Amino acid sequence: MTYSSPLMSRRSAMSKIASLAALGAGLFSVPKAAKADQAARPVAPGGMDHAQRIEWLIGQMTLVEKAGQLNLLNDPFRFRPQSVNPTDGLGDPARVSRMIRAGELGALFNGVGAEAGRRIQRIAVEETRLGVPLLFAADIIHGLYTVFPVPLAEAAAFDADLARRTARAAALEGAVSGIHQNYAPMIDVARDQRWGRVVEGAGEDVLLNQILAEARVRGIQGDHGLNHPDALVATPKHFIAYSAAQGGMDYNTTDMSEATLRGTFLPPFQSAIDAGALSVMSAFNDLNGVPTSGNHRMLTEVLRDELDFAGFVVSDYTSEQELIAHGFAEDGRDAARIAMLAGVDMSMVSGLYLQHLPDLVEKGEVPMARLDEAVRRVLTVKAALGLFDDPYRGMDPVREKAVCGSREHYQLAREAGAQSIVLLKNDGDLLPLKPSGQKIALIGPFADDVDNVFGPWTIWGDEKHRISLEAGFRAAMADPQGLTIARGSGIETPLEGGIAAAVQAAERADVVVLAVGEGARMSGEAQSRTDLRLPEPQLALAQAVMATGKPVVVLLRNGRAMELSGAVRDAPAIVVSWFLGSEMGHSVADVLFGARSPSGRLPVSFPHKSGQQPFSYDHKTTGRPADPNKAVEEYTARYRETTNTALYPFGHGLTYGRIAYSTPTLSSAIMPWNEAIEVSVAVTNSGPVDVVETVQLYIRDRVASLTQPGQRLRDFRKVAIPAGETVTVSFTLKRSQLEFIGANGRMTVEPGAFDLWLAPSAQTGAPVRFTLAR
Ligand code: BGC
Repeated sequence: MTYSSPLMSRRSAMSKIASLAALGAGLFSVPKAAKADQAARPVAPGGMDHAQRIEWLIGQMTLVEKAGQLNLLNDPFRFRPQSVNPTDGLGDPARVSRMIRAGELGALFNGVGAEAGRRIQRIAVEETRLGVPLLFAADIIHGLYTVFPVPLAEAAAFDADLARRTARAAALEGAVSGIHQNYAPMIDVARDQRWGRVVEGAGEDVLLNQILAEARVRGIQGDHGLNHPDALVATPKHFIAYSAAQGGMDYNTTDMSEATLRGTFLPPFQSAIDAGALSVMSAFNDLNGVPTSGNHRMLTEVLRDELDFAGFVVSDYTSEQELIAHGFAEDGRDAARIAMLAGVDMSMVSGLYLQHLPDLVEKGEVPMARLDEAVRRVLTVKAALGLFDDPYRGMDPVREKAVCGSREHYQLAREAGAQSIVLLKNDGDLLPLKPSGQKIALIGPFADDVDNVFGPWTIWGDEKHRISLEAGFRAAMADPQGLTIARGSGIETPLEGGIAAAVQAAERADVVVLAVGEGARMSGEAQSRTDLRLPEPQLALAQAVMATGKPVVVLLRNGRAMELSGAVRDAPAIVVSWFLGSEMGHSVADVLFGARSPSGRLPVSFPHKSGQQPFSYDHKTTGRPADPNKAVEEYTARYRETTNTALYPFGHGLTYGRIAYSTPTLSSAIMPWNEAIEVSVAVTNSGPVDVVETVQLYIRDRVASLTQPGQRLRDFRKVAIPAGETVTVSFTLKRSQLEFIGANGRMTVEPGAFDLWLAPSAQTGAPVRFTLAR
């Protein structure tokens, strides 16, 4: 593979990044060198702007110092043993200090704390030859000290502003704790619920992923420019198609058409980059035979030249080293060369860049220009963050105490948690529960649990602030003595005498809330599953409790869509509560006791059977579409056991109101080529409470030169509908919303007939038809 990068677009990318760096940035202040190396430190000419300064620095750097800027290691100083990553990448603090002093390290990750951060940064700024500050990164996936709902849960709120606000609050806690870069958001469109990392993203739909990608990048980077001390650099990940791992098994191979790659997996990255993301993480997976962390076409031709990305690419945890295991590189040296030439700028944990780049450049196997380009990108982001003006930006131990876990942040976590809850089923209006006069048995492994309220990816969450369901219920109930707790079962193992005690508790109660589901470590990285049902002991518990004949509300805890089976499926009420973070118990109680009506919508379809995976509502019709209303219909696209529909589809979610949609009306049945049409629907709430309804707009392109999905979400709106009222909801539909990736790999739109739905989920409502006319 040879290094080539079209000059024009590289130039435009560099001018974009240079202007970003210049944003609000003044002239460089030259850091004061410690006595020990003041003599060795070259004197910078005065009056340089950031871009000039960066070129001057690159000119001063040895090959080792250049490779050092591209070398990223785990933070051994502030590391927490709870970190989900193995500790083998952790150096010892003395060794890492030596590396910093020698200019062999450009960045550290997953250590937080302002005071220690200042001490570590001081080594880089005062005790190195060139005084280049370190970049501190972290995985702040859904909060730092304050833990917000897991990203999948929050996607259920269908609310860009909420996602922006929680991302901002989490980033602020990071910034005051000495972090500059956040390895978030994860924007991998997830269509296979076996894959454990569904929990980290926005689910199965492309548009929802795009909207939340943009919102989260904006939240992480803030509104005042990157050089504001409260801003972090966002790192959308994992580039690219990581979530399409075959069989839903994490790290597995991906293989797909260009139309799928461009139509499904690239759009959220385009949205994140358009929102200003200045870093991207390359992925672990092999894509169509070329591992993504060694994939020049994807990392350079597509990411840089097409998506116009101007920041730096960081590899995922040793992903460049894994080119060897993929069978794509001979050894570490070869892996470093391939990744570098492909477009990976910074190497995470493996140390291969530091080890091999100097020699690779000396021997002419990696052009100096490519090395300089990578260093320039990293330094430019450091400059854009304001690190050259104030290497200790944001690191304020006093503010750290005030901001992290503040009352406002916990209030936001409670609000976000409540908005994330999805009511799947509510037969006989079993919900809401009564805050008084009703004896409630709260049964299940999560009844009083605090260890599983955060969910995966919370390294620093404040464990003293974890609101259990029990605590939330007690706080919401006027007569908390009416609450009994019985665990009944462990998460994956039976509990001795548990079922008998649970049955007894159920029999004495008026209503049972059955808190069952997945433990925090059952989803997340490397937590792929072959079976989406609840663990056996919990199914047995559910069956025994249902057999008492008491009304049962199933309260699911989960990091993915699940197969609901047996008593869990048949319960009269089912609530999806995911992992809601620090305030979980309060958020759940707010909804279950009716302080607010549920408003969440499924961002992932709940299948009838695990074996339907991969599944997304926007699958294609096939030549033999099955009629979902027929139990058995041979020689159509279905399974022996079930039609290929969802038990609860994408977009589904009930409220405590009674909602009815009218047939949509169109301003015109013809959409002229250069004009939009208006589509409207009247939504009536004949129920007794005010609700928030999420009206969804789906289309189907009836005939296209590449077959299209049976339905695609093109817009949605959350609207408040007071009790007893009708609200007319209107959308403007433009030609651009009808576009798809054509046979030439480019966005295209073709005239002809379209079906349109305005509906409460992806599986409801009758379509109306219009024609796009040229
Ligand atoms: C994950 C990334 C994460 C990185 C650093 C990897 O194992 O795939 O998402 O950012 O570790 O913690």
